Amino acid sequence: MRTPLIAGNWKMFKTAGEAVALVQDLSRLVADVSEVEIAVCPPFTALKSVATVIELDKLSLKLGAQNVYWEEEGAFTGEVAPRMLQELGVDYVIIGHSERREHFGETNETVNKKVAAVIAHNMRPIMCVGESLRQREAEETNAFVREQVVGGLANLSADQCANLVVAYEPIWAIGTGRSATPEMANDVCRHIRAVVGGLFGPDICREMRILYGGSVKPENIAMYMQEPDIDGALVGGASLKADGFADIVKFDEQRVG
Ligand code: 13P
Repeated sequence: MRTPLIAGNWKMFKTAGEAVALVQDLSRLVADVSEVEIAVCPPFTALKSVATVIELDKLSLKLGAQNVYWEEEGAFTGEVAPRMLQELGVDYVIIGHSERREHFGETNETVNKKVAAVIAHNMRPIMCVGESLRQREAEETNAFVREQVVGGLANLSADQCANLVVAYEPIWAIGTGRSATPEMANDVCRHIRAVVGGLFGPDICREMRILYGGSVKPENIAMYMQEPDIDGALVGGASLKADGFADIVKFDEQRVG
């Protein structure tokens, strides 16, 4: 059985103080949730403060970062090394988000180096893939996503990928309010599972969690979670408010349809 994972990607929102307040509010609202893994991914500047709250208040929330550099250390002004995240208690690292691919020049090659570095430091990558609207309309989605998955996991072994999470985020659904239908999302997630199965065999792909991301909200989460190949969500805008994010985490209580 795959444990559902709901991860909040706070993007470039929340100062450290705001992040702490949000985590405290959220933790109260999800205190009774035990069958869903919950991760929060604040900006780098808030990681330490959020880690401290999680530790002191003994919260069951997991901590995630939104990016990392692949080198151990060195003259790389402005970058953050895997070791630095690991020391803070970071568990998940989002890699290759479409915003990073679009605005910061990330490619399947850099994604691959980051995935390898995160795994080498015993953290878990949430590797993001997803097509543009043009690619969807040209029916290139599966081929494009396959290339992203194969490229992002190049030179890695099945053992290394045991804790890999993949997030399928169609670019046209991010922050637009225009979410993919559950069937559409599940089709691509099933395809991703098959591609990973082709690379690493059936055990890894059966265990691997695949998240859907793109305009997920309390009103639509239950529909996604009913799909067999969707194991959770990577939530942007709706994760910035404690009550909305808690409602998503409690997807079992939301009405389908
Ligand atoms: P929204 O939920 O705001 O559409 O963002 C999705 C996303 O990019 C999560 O990584």
